[in-house]
Amino acid sequence: MTVTTRREGNVGYVELDNPPVNAIGLSVRSGLLEAVYWAEKENLERVIVSGKGGMFAAGADAKEFDSAPVEPHLPDVLNAIDESHIPWIAAIEGVALGGGAEIALACRMRIMAPKAKIGFPEVTLGVIPGAGGTQRLPHLIGLANSVNMITTGKPLGAQQALEIGLIHEVDEEPIESAFMVNSEALGCIVPARDLPPAAHDAEAMAAARERLQAKSAGQIAPLRAIEVIEQGLALPLEEGLAIERQAFLELRSSEQAKALRHMFFSERAAKAPASLTAKPVALEHVAIVGGGTMGSGIAYALLNAGLKVTILENDNDGVERANNNVESIISASLKRGMINDAAATEHRERFTATTDYAQVSNATLAIEAAYESMEVKREVFAALEKALPADAILSSNTSYLDLNEIASSVTDPSRVIGLHFFAPAHIMKLLEIVRGEQTSDTALATGYALAKILRKIPVVVGVCDGFVGNRILARYREAADTILMDGSTPWEIDEAMVEFGYAMGPYAAQDLSGLDIAHANRRRQDSTRDPARRYIPIADRMVELGKLGRKTGAGWYRYPGGAGRVEDPIVADLAIEEAHFAGIKRVDYTADEIRERLLLAMINEAADILDEGIAASASDIDLVAVAGYGFPRWRGGLMGYADSIGASSIVGKLEQLAKEDAVVWKVSPLLQSCATDGLLLCDVQGGGTFSA
Ligand code: 3HC
Repeated sequence: MTVTTRREGNVGYVELDNPPVNAIGLSVRSGLLEAVYWAEKENLERVIVSGKGGMFAAGADAKEFDSAPVEPHLPDVLNAIDESHIPWIAAIEGVALGGGAEIALACRMRIMAPKAKIGFPEVTLGVIPGAGGTQRLPHLIGLANSVNMITTGKPLGAQQALEIGLIHEVDEEPIESAFMVNSEALGCIVPARDLPPAAHDAEAMAAARERLQAKSAGQIAPLRAIEVIEQGLALPLEEGLAIERQAFLELRSSEQAKALRHMFFSERAAKAPASLTAKPVALEHVAIVGGGTMGSGIAYALLNAGLKVTILENDNDGVERANNNVESIISASLKRGMINDAAATEHRERFTATTDYAQVSNATLAIEAAYESMEVKREVFAALEKALPADAILSSNTSYLDLNEIASSVTDPSRVIGLHFFAPAHIMKLLEIVRGEQTSDTALATGYALAKILRKIPVVVGVCDGFVGNRILARYREAADTILMDGSTPWEIDEAMVEFGYAMGPYAAQDLSGLDIAHANRRRQDSTRDPARRYIPIADRMVELGKLGRKTGAGWYRYPGGAGRVEDPIVADLAIEEAHFAGIKRVDYTADEIRERLLLAMINEAADILDEGIAASASDIDLVAVAGYGFPRWRGGLMGYADSIGASSIVGKLEQLAKEDAVVWKVSPLLQSCATDGLLLCDVQGGGTFSA
């Protein structure tokens, strides 16, 4: 039974009991409908609906969205609650999201616990509220508030919900409070459906559409939500509900909704597996080596999670730089209202920068974020081994270097793990956890525990040059640079990728991170690079010219006065010149051709990564692409997107490109076998590190 009922005097108590989040699947819908009939048969005075386990309901069960809808449908169940002559009260603890919030809207009264949240996150799943959210909500909180809640998907806290008239009361004990409600007062509350419709506001709607264009370009559901809300304003509730249902069902079976569900469930699956039984080390004091941009970002993230942090530096200048870097993140967060004065003071108290390794003698975890040089890393790890307790976990934030070689610099390499953060480390959600050949389960469990404390998405990866994310990035950039050499400009390439859904293209992104980083990496790879692979020298020329990106005022673009970027004809000329030196006859690529090449290069590499067991699953690669590299979430991540095209079509295109360059476009064997066997990449389990 996922819905239970009991009678207390004249009051009915209905409890949703479908752990862990009371998702509203078929049995909950049926149980709720039966509860409506039961309450009427029992002739109750009122009904209180709540959720077991301090959780109201997380919405419709998204796992059912891949199959055809089954009766009773949620809108019908909620209409039955709404139209019943017995008033219902929603007593909300935990969250009331999506269909959960819609249950509350169908109730006569809503009481929330102070820490509870209510919201409509349907657009993040590529759908719109489908059980009255778009129709009942505007009656209660007006048009602008409704559009804001539904199109952003962001939930509100109890106090905010009270202030805008979405709920009636905030109480520490909402269920008890609902039992105490005076029946006469309850009878005076006008149900949402009988309140006058919200007034239309063309200006606010135009502004909302513009906002969506800027923030959610390419996404269908938020715009569809506005349309449906607007249509409902002029219609009786039943007609508005019918339009909403139709739109919801259409979106539910769309490619975008499928892609977003794939990402939703991939994100949920990113946690320590049940088979990992080792206990993580207790995390209280963490040592960070290096207080540069990355080290100080990591330090701030740890401070924000309540940990004590010591940054270790080489000399007093380094200590001063680390102090300044951390302080500037604390001050910026304070200024933006992300933390208050008390939190800032606490952060400062828990933070030290020093050259004295003796100060980390009780740290249980070290994160090395020093210069990307094997020699430096080996020295640092030897020093950490001496300074920290023998069972402390020693980690490296290296982006490219061989973790196994780093681990060999300490006596017990099982203590060593990679924790690859993404800049800015206190903001970016992804954490690649690099498992070396000898990494222990305790170290792995500690990586997962850290990700949980920091609320980051953990993805375990194997050792290779660039791990998952940077290895794919290298192919993306290689494909872009080849197109740049052979015919396009950086801005044409960037625009093609922005049209695909990236917030910025590869060149604008590289201007942000700095061209010198990739340059140093290319020099490191000089001795191991396949001589048969084409080398594009344009980026090297840029570095020679001192065009390192935003920090030097010019990179692939120019940034006059530190303001917005402008196209730089010198860069376009540089590409033409290099092509001329190489005897290349340049061609015009269309935006579609540009996109196709860049995406195919990434998909092909990602398939190899999966095949080699550097990633455990296609969905892990999708998490890396979306959370670390800006691949559009609504495309379902890189592999989800590849599956929407199909392996055989991808192989056909790659074979076509291989006629131009057989080395670069060599088809991944995994793609080949998926095409032959008709398999989806998302159904493939990684080999290598991850094979059972
Ligand atoms: N459907 C199916 N399963 C769901 C679910 C949903 N709506 N929401 C959560 N779950 C599952 C998760 O997949 C996870 O399963 P697992 O244990 O097997 O991995 C489990 O519940 C716990 O979820 P989390 O790991 O996310 O737990 P948290 O405590 O971190 O977060 C939460 C809880 C805030 C409720 C978060 O899960 C959440 O935001 N859920 C999605 C809410 C949502 O998008 N609702 C809208 C659904 S669409 C809808 O309602 C349509 C309607 O208008 C008709």
